[in-house]
Amino acid sequence: MKITDFKLYRDKCFINGQWINADSSEIISVNNPATLEEIGTVPKCGKNETKLAIEAANKSWPEWRAKSAKDRSVILKKWYELIIDNKEELAQMMTLEQGKPINESRGEIVYGASFIEWFAEEAKRIYGDTIPDPLTDRRILVIKQPVGVVASITPWNFPNAMITRKCAPALAVGCPVVIKPASQTPYSALALAALAEEAGFPKGTLNVITGKASEIGDELASNSLVRKLSFTGSTEIGKILLQKCAGTVKKVSMELGGHAPFIVFDDANIDDAVIGAIQSKFRNTGQTCVCANRIYAQDGIYDEFCQKFVQATSELKVGDGLNEETTSGPMIDEYSLEKVEEHVQDAIQLGAKIAIGGSKHSLGMNFYQPTILTDVTPEAKITSEETFGPVAPVYRFKDENEVISLANNSPFGLASYFYSRDIGRIWRVSEALEYGMVGVNTGLTSKAEAPFGGIKESGLGREGSKYGVDDFLEVKYVNMCGLDK
Ligand code: SIN
Repeated sequence: MKITDFKLYRDKCFINGQWINADSSEIISVNNPATLEEIGTVPKCGKNETKLAIEAANKSWPEWRAKSAKDRSVILKKWYELIIDNKEELAQMMTLEQGKPINESRGEIVYGASFIEWFAEEAKRIYGDTIPDPLTDRRILVIKQPVGVVASITPWNFPNAMITRKCAPALAVGCPVVIKPASQTPYSALALAALAEEAGFPKGTLNVITGKASEIGDELASNSLVRKLSFTGSTEIGKILLQKCAGTVKKVSMELGGHAPFIVFDDANIDDAVIGAIQSKFRNTGQTCVCANRIYAQDGIYDEFCQKFVQATSELKVGDGLNEETTSGPMIDEYSLEKVEEHVQDAIQLGAKIAIGGSKHSLGMNFYQPTILTDVTPEAKITSEETFGPVAPVYRFKDENEVISLANNSPFGLASYFYSRDIGRIWRVSEALEYGMVGVNTGLTSKAEAPFGGIKESGLGREGSKYGVDDFLEVKYVNMCGLDK
């Protein structure tokens, strides 16, 4: 199967309604992480083309914001329907460039499209306020208006859904967008642009630019026409972008790294907890910001949980994501694999034991065995750094207070999970965990209806849900006076 065979295959950038190459004609190679083969190339654009995209977006803004919410909603819904109609093709393209199991890719296409459907509806519900003025001849009116050009810098781990989760609310409320997808996974983004073109977005409203991440990122973060930057990626890059955005005081949303605790209490349903741990830890081969990074099992159920978790992990099928049976695909590249190896070796040197896995998979290349480590020490890198791979360290704990303090001992605050059947504990622990998201008796919480986002060094702002439009709106206060004349 070749990426060039797909009808949604585009190998050019989409700027101002045109499919263009880089000024320099330079290109970037895109590889299949399962085979390491080159599947195609995309333009290596830089500062000039980024400026062009920003200017095109800005030019399209008056027309786009002037449309009624209903008219914008109709175009978004058309985009949604086209994505669903092309689900299989989009999923195959995603697996070819990203490596994830084809069933996960299918799931992501539906998940990604759900943000467009949701925000197509939310577009009609951007309400303002009236507030009583202390003086009788006056009224206070509050209206909400689109912020302006939005730049979206998106990651390779969810090549479709991270674009739709950012762009659907922006477009819904009247903002044009410039999207910079990850260089590893540009085809999913360009296919979304092809479908957006077909859906009827006016030219310049949605632009996709591929190329040099630092040059494009610099321009997006410093150009004064960009009024909002939304980024999903590492905390390290997020901090750099935040500093750059300060120069023009842009609005920012940052969906950054995580280090999720996953707690199993003595009173939990252990079989459910094992299913949740598998989903949370091994989805996308552990390459998600919301993956369980530290699994805490209470004394009373520790042995049973570990035995069942190891058994379930042994049933995972590692392989090329295009095989229907595969449940664990490759890592995105050799650097990610090296980090996983480094974390495992470091934990072992400090006393951890391998319960299953612990090394590269016999398939070679970017494949790593789904791994469980026990007796991991607090000093091990894996206890505090994000691994972004298929390794689950399991820790033993005694009581609720101890585990809450262990769980909160992190600069990150994105997702957290716990399993318990005790309603009092469910309230106490949900409130005590210093995380933006808490999954109770579940290992998967992401959905269009819910606010996704973190606290502390995991980010700023929320994506999805009714809260997901706030970051793309300015609040304007109008004081109407002289009303008694
Ligand atoms: C992420 O890992 O960046 C997003 C995961 C999700 O949407 O569930």
